[in-house]
Amino acid sequence: MTRRAFAAAASAAVFLAALPEAEARKLAFRISRVKKLTRVGGFVILNIKGRKILFVRDSAESVRALDAICTHKHWLVSYEHKSRHVVCPKHGSRYALDGSIKKGPSEKPLGVYRCRLVKGRVLLDL
Ligand code: FES
Repeated sequence: MTRRAFAAAASAAVFLAALPEAEARKLAFRISRVKKLTRVGGFVILNIKGRKILFVRDSAESVRALDAICTHKHWLVSYEHKSRHVVCPKHGSRYALDGSIKKGPSEKPLGVYRCRLVKGRVLLDL
């Protein structure tokens, strides 16, 4: 990820809002505040509570959230909408949007987060 992309991700994180205390492990943000998620196929990596999380707008009605760190040698992953795969640029591992491995050398799946798109808000369970 470029320095510029990190800066964009960091500024997007400003718009995250914690929900009430009873839901302290949940976060929400308006999808309109993260431009890269406003179109299907868009993705962004946000730093949330010390975790790098890859958000993927995989359809008009949904957003996926996965760990953004490859399980092989810990590089940042990216998303390729054409194949609908999460890809690691370092050694070529590929993951499906459910975190499962499509191609090694990774041997462990990516972690996934429960993530919903409700009335224009992305709701994330940490
Ligand atoms: S670090 Fe991702 S495939 Fe090696």
